[in-house]
Amino acid sequence: MCFKICLIGCGDFAVQVHGSAHLSYARSHPRTELTACCDIDAGRAKAFAERFGYSRHYSDMEAMMDRERPDAVVVLVMPQVTTKVVSAVLSRGLPVFLEKPPGMNLKEIDDLIAISTTRMAPSQVGFNRRYMPLMQRARKILEADFAPIQQVNYNMIRYERNDPDFSITAIHAIDAAMFLADSPYRRVRLDYEALEGIDVSRWNVSLRGECESGTFVNIHIQPMAGYLSESFSVHGVGVSLLGEVLGPGLTANVGRLEHWVADKCIGEYSDAGLTKSVRRGVDGEFAAFCDAIRSGKTPTPSLEQCRRQVCLMEALRKRETGVIDFSALELSAPR
Ligand SMILES: NC(=O)c1ccc[n+]([C@@H]2O[C@H](COP(=O)([O-])OP(=O)(O)OC[C@H]3O[C@@H](n4cnc5c(N)ncnc54)[C@H](O)[C@@H]3O)[C@@H](O)[C@H]2O)c1
Repeated sequence: MCFKICLIGCGDFAVQVHGSAHLSYARSHPRTELTACCDIDAGRAKAFAERFGYSRHYSDMEAMMDRERPDAVVVLVMPQVTTKVVSAVLSRGLPVFLEKPPGMNLKEIDDLIAISTTRMAPSQVGFNRRYMPLMQRARKILEADFAPIQQVNYNMIRYERNDPDFSITAIHAIDAAMFLADSPYRRVRLDYEALEGIDVSRWNVSLRGECESGTFVNIHIQPMAGYLSESFSVHGVGVSLLGEVLGPGLTANVGRLEHWVADKCIGEYSDAGLTKSVRRGVDGEFAAFCDAIRSGKTPTPSLEQCRRQVCLMEALRKRETGVIDFSALELSAPR
């Protein structure tokens, strides 16, 4: 029996990285079928199918799911329609991989969690940084050979981000810092730095918080700086881990990791030579999703594991200030 995959949304991100990740998984995993893809723009669906080896293409997702009876569905539509499309997939009891953000606000993610629970349909959210080889290596070091993590610092720097809602990108930093800390946020304080002449939606943001483990997290988000970069530092007593996740500069294609003890660098890692979709973690997250569904395991991060990140994204979009205390909000949020 073949594992049948259907895809909804054949736009930019699907073409840039998902297509090659799906093709590579299908080639390396026997009995996998890239069954059909769908886009309301029929031309896009056809071109995507031809380029990345999907057998058939549709412009109506319900017709596709009726006819093709997939084992799993990948949803890569715009954030504003993600909840509607994912609800339709989950309502059929089908496992779903959905791109971030998993809902535009807490209500939307809670609606999705409710359907997924009722229909017993597993989910995985596309927080691809978790599956970057560099971040996977970082987590291994932190788990194996590190003092208790005292502090995680994460910087997300961009240039000329004129999109009206940067929160849907900023959620990557919120999730990545939590992933490094390996513990859900307990409470987080949001502050903004005003930039004269620049719309409030693009002001710098700082999130300072504490995880349930006691680890402190500082996240700095700056959408209007001079280049693209994402980096982190993690500190325990006597030990530090530094990572350059993206950049500096859009065309930089090497990520770096340094493990320091007592002012000596005792280990380095570089992801030079990896393809874009592997480096960005898209190959890894897609393979992890398919493997989990095929073996009856729970994929991660599930919708439930993303509630606190969505809550912070929504607060940031609304420019809320002050402290969000998740225990007071009674948010049940596993990692
Ligand atoms: N993980 C990352 O780093 C990253 C980067 C970029 C984008 N994304 C995410 O990927 C997703 C897609 O982004 P994009 O830039 O490719 O957007 P896009 O607008 O280029 O593509 C979305 C596609 O979905 C199609 N679509 C919309 N509703 C549909 C429906 N009901 N049925 C079938 N097709 C439908 C549109 O026609 C369009 O072709 C978003 O959720 C975005 O947040 C993630």
